[in-house]
Amino acid sequence: MAAGSAYKTVTHQFDVVVVGAGGAGLRATLGMAEQGLKTACITKVFPTRSHTVAAQGGIAASLGNMGADSWQWHMYDTVKGSDWLGDNDAMEYLAREAPAAVYELEHYGVPFSRTEEGKIYQRPFGGHMQNYGEGPPVQRTCAAADRTGHAILHTLYGQSLRNNAQFFIEYFALDLLMSEDGACEGVIAWNLDDGTIHRFRAKTVVLATGGYGRAYFSATSAHTCTGDGNGMVARAGLPLQDMEFVQFHPTGIYGAGVLITEGARGEGGYLTNSEGERFMERYAPNAKDLASRDVVSRCMTMEIREGRGVGPNKDHIYLHLDHLDPDVLAERLPGITESAKIFAGVDLRAEPIPVIPTVHYNMGGVPTNYWGEVLNPTAENPDQIVPGLMAVGEAGCASVHGANRLGSNSLIDLVVFGRAAAIRAGQVIDREAKIPEVNEQSYDKAIARLDKLRHADGGSPTAELRDKMQRTMQEDAAVFRTEETLKSGCERITAIWGELEDIKVTDRSMIWNSDLVETLELENLMANAITTVHSAEARTESRGAHAREDYPDRDDKNWRHHTLSRLSEDGKVDLTYRPVHVEPLTDGIDLKKIAPKARVY
Ligand code: FUM
Repeated sequence: MAAGSAYKTVTHQFDVVVVGAGGAGLRATLGMAEQGLKTACITKVFPTRSHTVAAQGGIAASLGNMGADSWQWHMYDTVKGSDWLGDNDAMEYLAREAPAAVYELEHYGVPFSRTEEGKIYQRPFGGHMQNYGEGPPVQRTCAAADRTGHAILHTLYGQSLRNNAQFFIEYFALDLLMSEDGACEGVIAWNLDDGTIHRFRAKTVVLATGGYGRAYFSATSAHTCTGDGNGMVARAGLPLQDMEFVQFHPTGIYGAGVLITEGARGEGGYLTNSEGERFMERYAPNAKDLASRDVVSRCMTMEIREGRGVGPNKDHIYLHLDHLDPDVLAERLPGITESAKIFAGVDLRAEPIPVIPTVHYNMGGVPTNYWGEVLNPTAENPDQIVPGLMAVGEAGCASVHGANRLGSNSLIDLVVFGRAAAIRAGQVIDREAKIPEVNEQSYDKAIARLDKLRHADGGSPTAELRDKMQRTMQEDAAVFRTEETLKSGCERITAIWGELEDIKVTDRSMIWNSDLVETLELENLMANAITTVHSAEARTESRGAHAREDYPDRDDKNWRHHTLSRLSEDGKVDLTYRPVHVEPLTDGIDLKKIAPKARVY
């Protein structure tokens, strides 16, 4: 008897099913529903608790409200920030569309902070400059105090409900339903509340499941950031792209990992070492504390390594805001004022905050074009599309961030590409066509996996394996990497992959079984972790967030291409490569301006 017959299964039919209700998922859901497409959004947490709610500093768009700016400068900064690994067509699309996407948010009701004249308030952020990188820093990051993600998420959820999108809340997506010839036909999910299984048949599935920060021990990401969409894609035999590029945010609170927004440095905050020196002036004389994140994180790590860290163990750095006007802090940074008190016991108006580079964002993910259509590249066609499947937000890799994302380019990525996916779906979905029948084998396979894990009775509890994985990633795939650490990472993660066979789940119920949820999440995290270390070990150059001490230089001749990692069931990772899109979208771009050169701030 197939395992499936033991599980009560409800079947649904939609034009579009979006998996995930963060900024990208909600923007896609809203855009689909606005066009009258029958749209479902499945989410494992209540929409307004998605991780976007934690985004603080703001959303980048060249509105020019607080000084000169242009989308071309924004594009240039994004290209340079990506260390010339981003796709130029996608980066042009992002920078060009950003202002319209932000004004749309304003009209949907996002309560942005305002200038004296009533315009949207914008602050400086790392790596965003005037004059094609020449400087000075530009005020491009649109903010709702330091709770910008919170404001956007609530607005998009309200608007999606208003447009009759249907939400399936606290449903855990298990696997994609794929046809024999490789098209996506739906997704299968578990309703955590009543234990039923739901088969969503759809013309298009959009993955908006976020990043996998929780593959690491210390991350600013919520505990829900377990790379579920990437895990589903890997199990479907599709590749992940550029997984070696993991961003460390310079200012996670020491010990707690909680984010202190880059907006803090945008408002005038600065970093010091144990000698009280503003060391960023030495490393990045132009942009100083507002150099791009990978650069600042590396400089902090070097200061600590060279014995100039602060605290009893000299293992962190101070962030100063104590010189700023308390009214500015209250008005523009109220959230981090509270976080510093709660998580570091510090009154930031009077004392520095102890900070350390902390895992924050995954540049890699599911490869897509700039419409969010998922790619399954072949040697003949590196841009081959997977019919019926899209990915947006941190789960997707368009690739606009390349080897390093600029701060505040994440929120704009969510809304620009969530919106682009909706525009594309409106063009390609045939409203009259029948919703595809699903391949029963694909359904059976997903249920068999669930059933196996639910009854797993080995000797290794999920929490133990997760802890091992997180510590390995933290130690072996860190800010600085070498062949030795990465080889060790590959061996250790591969061994943990083997131990998954011996996993132990103690709760067998189907109602709010958090033990089983965490086990499913661990499988997803492991797919992300193993592709990350293997991709990193293979890339013998330094680029953006991938800093190899044994290969300190960028090598455009051999490595200006995207890594594709395909994972097989036995934990083998197969790596191939795909060219970067060097052609921009339109001919209005000066190609000489965006050609690779040394990346200095
Ligand atoms: O620092 C921050 O507020 C984070 C923003 C981002 O990652 O884009």
